[in-house]
Amino acid sequence: MQFENKIICDGLLNKSLEVKMQKLIIYGPASLMGEIEVEGAKNAALPILTASILAQNKVIITNVPDIVDVKHTIEILKYLGCNVLFENNTVVVDSSSIGRFTIPPEYAKLMRSSVLFMGALLSKFRRVELSNHPGGCEIGQRPIDLHISAFRQLGIEVFENNNRIMCRCDRIKGSEIFLPIPSVGATENIILASIFCDGEVVIKNAAKEPEIVDLCHFLNKLGAKIKGAGTHIIKIEGVKRLNSEEVIHKVIPDRIVAGTYLCAVAACGKEVVLKSVFPRHLDSILHILKGSGCKIKESKNEIWIKKEGRLKGGLRITTHYYPGFPTDLQAPVCSAFAVASGVTIIKETIFENRFKHVPELVKMGADIHVEKDIAVINGVEKLRGCKVFARDLRGGAALFIAGLSAQGVTEVMDADYIDRGYEKIEEKYSLLGAKILREKGE
Ligand code: EPZ
Repeated sequence: MQFENKIICDGLLNKSLEVKMQKLIIYGPASLMGEIEVEGAKNAALPILTASILAQNKVIITNVPDIVDVKHTIEILKYLGCNVLFENNTVVVDSSSIGRFTIPPEYAKLMRSSVLFMGALLSKFRRVELSNHPGGCEIGQRPIDLHISAFRQLGIEVFENNNRIMCRCDRIKGSEIFLPIPSVGATENIILASIFCDGEVVIKNAAKEPEIVDLCHFLNKLGAKIKGAGTHIIKIEGVKRLNSEEVIHKVIPDRIVAGTYLCAVAACGKEVVLKSVFPRHLDSILHILKGSGCKIKESKNEIWIKKEGRLKGGLRITTHYYPGFPTDLQAPVCSAFAVASGVTIIKETIFENRFKHVPELVKMGADIHVEKDIAVINGVEKLRGCKVFARDLRGGAALFIAGLSAQGVTEVMDADYIDRGYEKIEEKYSLLGAKILREKGE
């Protein structure tokens, strides 16, 4: 594979800055039938691409979803001086010419996971500058205080001034860090900053998400020494340098994309097989849907789901850290139970402002009341299509599902939010029999 700076990445920033948001037009009700491959996980691909700057040689990362956040991360890698090629869900990164340790505001603002370049660049250069607080979906305050306090415990000087954060150190100190919240991002940033630490860094109450396990798997292939990924205690033994071999790594399937398909079938029927998926990462949603009248069978890498008749509501669903019910499926499951029988209660415990999809669902005829962190869903027989606005990534996916089950035409405006985390969503669901068009927004 020849290296050249591919047009596909260049100019994305300009394109994304002059956004003319797109819309998806969904002709409901749909009845989903068929088989579909689940793409690679956004929340594993982003930290793994970030970690690729630490490699001593070229890395080849496969099963990378073709989504906006991946392209933004590649923009940052190229801005830092890496050579990157992205084709057919494969990214090749050669970081031998990396030469910068600053992340300019326009990049930092693009997405939350830009914050992970702090840990990686501190390992690479012992210094980093993030010229703006990281962006991403506005689903809550999303502070980075746990990242900053952990860096300080690692002996890193952190200076904050007008939204700019500058960090530097001579060496990374072996330490024991207790996280008051098992934050995914803070756990990943500590791991990335600790690869070359003196002695050992121990993270207590670490996040256990499968995406963190995949990141550690990749880093260990590069020559890092990380133990305990997937548990609440992660140990990183510092190494002097990483291996010089080329590394190939396949990203795990996206459990949130898979969960979204399951919610879509639960909302509008009928019978679908998900392929290239890890059912063990989806226990919580599978348990909920089995208890609501969906027939489900799992094998090693496949899930068969069949839903006939009306979904049975009446459950109480609470979002938790992994392996509990993921906050990223809270909005999609809202849409499924909006047309279920009975009253379903959803409690959001992770983010304080993640019910923005509810007023849009109510426009479609849903009967949902939100009180602080609780949504009470009185299931209705049917939703009706109308114009609705996506306000964030997973909220957009929820409106997409509602459009599939609704009577008539639904226009999901600002669909670009959905493109941040779902690869070619209208093409994939059309393969399952749905009728969807994509158009430039007004
Ligand atoms: C990751 O975000 C995911 N993003 C999110 O997915 C996901 O919702 C979240 O983890 C929880 O599972 C990526 O992996 C790129 P956290 P992250 O740090 O790392 C608080 C999607 O839709 N907190 O685990 O930002 C924070 O405010 C996205 O794909 C602090 O208070 O989440 C939140 O309430 C959205 N201080 C809680 O912890 C900190 O320094 C969990 O956040 C850090 C976090």
